Amino acid sequence: MKKILITGGAGYIGSHTAVALVVAGFEPVIVDNFSNSDHSALNGLKRILGKELLCYEGDCNDRELLQRIFKENQFEGVIHFAAYKAVGESTQFPLKYYSNNLFSLIVLLETMAAFGVRDLVFSSSCTVYGQPDELPVKESTPRKEAESPYGNTKKICEDILRDYIKSGVNSRIISLRYFNPVGAHPSGEIGELPLGVPNNLVPFITQTAAGIREKLTVFGNDYATSDGSCVRDYIHVMDLADAHVKALEYLFKQKENFYDLFNVGTGKGNTVLEVIQTFEKVSGRPLNYQIGPRRPGDIEKVWANTDKINTVLGWHAKYSLEDSLRDSWNWQQKLGEKE
Ligand code: NAD
Ligand code: WQD
Repeated sequence: MKKILITGGAGYIGSHTAVALVVAGFEPVIVDNFSNSDHSALNGLKRILGKELLCYEGDCNDRELLQRIFKENQFEGVIHFAAYKAVGESTQFPLKYYSNNLFSLIVLLETMAAFGVRDLVFSSSCTVYGQPDELPVKESTPRKEAESPYGNTKKICEDILRDYIKSGVNSRIISLRYFNPVGAHPSGEIGELPLGVPNNLVPFITQTAAGIREKLTVFGNDYATSDGSCVRDYIHVMDLADAHVKALEYLFKQKENFYDLFNVGTGKGNTVLEVIQTFEKVSGRPLNYQIGPRRPGDIEKVWANTDKINTVLGWHAKYSLEDSLRDSWNWQQKLGEKE
């Protein structure tokens, strides 16, 4: 069985990708420093998979640790999720973000090269587009100046990867630009672990419905969209996880050094108010919300053109927004039962 290293594999997207990898016949190995996750994700994985995955607790910036992990395992590929991702915090502590997100990638690339591991899938983000001039946004659409240090780390990491491949190194790399990941494993055993007050829409909705938050504030209803609220492309985390498997399988088929980028979204935009209405429908309960002012720095509307990933990787989103919100709600309810 091909062993795949997943950095940040105890996190939200990494844990779902671990499941997708096992289903596809791979053997994932996790390294995570648990800075934004905890061991409950590993327990959830064990319940879903019926077996324990090998997990190293430690930091991807720790070169000796990475060398030991690569020595102890013969990897066929790596998926690099490990990064800090809180946009607001990154404006307060930019060096923390640049240090973790850039160095972990560099140390990882150097270790992969030293051990002759060629294939890497990197977690990038639609944040690199800012507010695009054309919608739906294509991979060829020029990137905008980053809105935050976090967003800038993703741009710089993409540039590092492009330059690294250009240098003629023996490697094959794909960056996946995720749109807005939502949902959870349908079992409710793993999902997005909310630490503190959520910044993202869907965890805020489910926590409000669960009575943890009093009410949701919709950040603005005076945008140039169908109902005035912002538009995003919400992608189920199970679909996103599957895109990583497809990306790896594609990399394995490449004979030459290779770098490419793919959007991962549904290709469909939904407004904040549509998300609320859909949540009310699938949960069967009204949501307490109010309209508030715009959030500074928010993008008005963005959704993906997915032609490239559909045709080149043969990947298509299978889950609907209803599925996503049902699974997020199921996960929230199970979290409540555990407390
Ligand atoms: P997450 O925080 O749930 O998972 C990241 C994991 O990496 C966490 O378990 C954390 O403990 C770990 N980690 C962080 N730094 C580490 C380090 N130096 N060494 C070892 N482990 C480390 O986040 P996620 O939502 O699963 O995101 C995964 C990746 O996808 C990140 O790179 C993120 O920037 C990117 N991304 C996320 C979103 C999103 O909205 N969730 C959107 C676009 C891109
Ligand atoms: C979605 C919509 C808000 C909360 C973030 C990161 C980005 C990327 C994806 C990693 C927006 C509205 C939200 C609330 C609201 N992550 N909203 N009330 O802004 O698309 O992007 O996640 O790479 O870098 O910035 O996601 O979930 O914060 O917001 O009305 O309490 O929900 O205005 O329109 P966003 P989000």
